[in-house]
Amino acid sequence: MKKIVVSGIRPTGNLHLGNYFGALRNFIRMQDEYNCYFFIADYHSLTTHPHPDHLRQNVKQILASYIACGMDPEKVAIYAQSDLPETAELYMFFNMNVYLGELMRCTSFKEKAKQYWDQLKQELMEDMAASDNPGELKPEKESNKVHVSAGLLTYPTLMAADILIHKADFVPVGKDQEQHLEMTRTFAHRFNRIYGVDYFGQPQAFNFGSNLVKIPGLDGSGKMGKSESGNNAIFLTDDDATIRKKIMRATTDSGPVEMNQQKPEVIANLFQLVKVLCSEDTYKSFDEAYNNCTIRYGDLKKQLAEDTIKFVAPFRERIQEILADDAYLEKVRRAGAEKARESASKTVREVRNIIGF
Ligand code: TYM
Repeated sequence: MKKIVVSGIRPTGNLHLGNYFGALRNFIRMQDEYNCYFFIADYHSLTTHPHPDHLRQNVKQILASYIACGMDPEKVAIYAQSDLPETAELYMFFNMNVYLGELMRCTSFKEKAKQYWDQLKQELMEDMAASDNPGELKPEKESNKVHVSAGLLTYPTLMAADILIHKADFVPVGKDQEQHLEMTRTFAHRFNRIYGVDYFGQPQAFNFGSNLVKIPGLDGSGKMGKSESGNNAIFLTDDDATIRKKIMRATTDSGPVEMNQQKPEVIANLFQLVKVLCSEDTYKSFDEAYNNCTIRYGDLKKQLAEDTIKFVAPFRERIQEILADDAYLEKVRRAGAEKARESASKTVREVRNIIGF
């Protein structure tokens, strides 16, 4: 029996190189050897309140990108998360036994909720300062309010449901999803313990035996991801001029001052991009130039830009071609959803039975 693989990407816009090297590349590499379910996480995207038209368009965009990057609909079940309402049922079951404390400690939640806590703290301090009775609870202020929804808090539960609904063995994801996978295993184990069964396995994050990948962004900080300006990420749909412009603007420093000095984070990040996008020789020659303090960042960026353009262009063209064929996209999604629903409805049926319905 082939091992089962599940993963998904949120339809929040175009895919960037972080999505590609962290996840999608492995989706494609796994499709021959494993029984794969790859979906578009459209339920998850509701935490950012997309307009229905954008949501539809973005789902299509990811679907086309999956296929353009080499996913074979004959081998893989490709579908949207919302094609499997069974997922929502499993999510609800898991939520009955997921603890508030563990959800609130999740790093991605803490990052997203920080603004909310800061605001709440500020309001509480103001209330305390203004009130003669510090114990008095004032009504929440609605102006400029940042909300944290239950959906955002229970994001890891929904992810666990996505994965466990097909009883996955492996989940190809980038480094930022590691903690979510750990939570999935916790929830699976807890379900088994509560009901005295050995039903769910322990799905593992997967990158062919290597550590999970984190592709850095162009602004020198953290990981590649969508930013306000869009300049932190290279998208698979970016045209040549845009790629050149973004890379030439990438953050650097004033250059090495000592032979063989350690690279500061911004420079190490740029070199990591060179590593994944350029040839080994290119990497080596810039690394040597850095170590003997003769490096010119402008040359490095020019080379990185040209190699990135070569890498992205075929994907961009293919995505455009596939996007134009609505009927084909619809057909792929319908077939994928049908296969995925078979497995999902079996799991939910068995879970209902275990629970005692
Ligand atoms: P999302 O949509 O943020 O990202 C999709 C995939 O891309 C990877 N990724 C990166 N990898 C390396 N470097 C980066 N800079 C980078 N940016 C993104 C992510 O690790 C991810 O693998 N919660 C998930 C979607 C999801 C899911 C699931 C994934 C929902 N249910 C079930 C796996 C299994 C998310 O928001 O990914």
